[in-house]
Amino acid sequence: MTDAITYGSYLALDELLRLQRPQSEPEHPDELLFIVVHQASELWFKAILHDLDGLVSALEAKDAGASLWRLQRINALMRIVSAQLSALEALPPQHFAQFRTYLGTSSGSQSVQFRAIEAASGLRDVHFMHALEEHGPIADIVQRALDRPTLQDLFLRLLERSGMTIDDLYLGPGPNVLFFLAEALLEYEQQFGQWRFKHVQLVERIIGPATGGTGGTLGSRYLMKTVDQKFFPALWEVRARIFGKSRTGESA
Ligand code: HEM
Repeated sequence: MTDAITYGSYLALDELLRLQRPQSEPEHPDELLFIVVHQASELWFKAILHDLDGLVSALEAKDAGASLWRLQRINALMRIVSAQLSALEALPPQHFAQFRTYLGTSSGSQSVQFRAIEAASGLRDVHFMHALEEHGPIADIVQRALDRPTLQDLFLRLLERSGMTIDDLYLGPGPNVLFFLAEALLEYEQQFGQWRFKHVQLVERIIGPATGGTGGTLGSRYLMKTVDQKFFPALWEVRARIFGKSRTGESA
């Protein structure tokens, strides 16, 4: 007879709860929180990547309803990941300084799942490719995402297949599921940007502006530049082109 499945065995809690391994000696009381927030974020990144995969399949299948459902869940997960950063706002800078040296060269910029999310969402520009190659060979999970079309490309194909253009969505007779899908993509972009901005603010709060990070970047100055990266330039362009002009035709 097989062992009964229990809460602990189903969730592999023995293993999970052994995976928080503070490096400071003597152990700094705040290092556990630092590790937990990072590990929890990586678990949510895993769930987001899973749903991004589902979103890509739904877009490829030209299923607007299923795409919208996936995207709404991804947006809910992104809000959770951002909210978690607040836990580290309660990490006083002097406490972080006391265990920072024990982190060695580890840095969030080495997060393979974060890069896979960016790649799956559509980043392909030179800065992004540089950030990818900086830490050695590109991980398989990232390469697979790079080899697929971007979310924007898939969305544009879905629109084309429905005989519509982006302009139709915003100037057409009334909102339809493709319009809500476009708005949900934009919401995703904004949620992602909000994580980036909240993270920069956290970094400045804890190590100050323009302080180098453990990953060897210029810290918050580097991170601030990433806030403007866009997954869906076409959805921003339509706003600027159609709605960004004053009545005289000048940019407002
Ligand atoms: C005490 C809190 C934190 C500090 C001081 C901090 C600091 C930094 C710094 C300075 C960088 C720039 C790269 C470098 O030079 O290291 C960075 C990048 C990054 N961090 Fe954090 N971080 C903190 C919390 C977090 C948390 C909780 C996560 C969640 C996973 C995270 C994920 C990342 C990611 C993904 C990057 C790469 C961002 C990009 O290249 O666009 N960080 N962090």
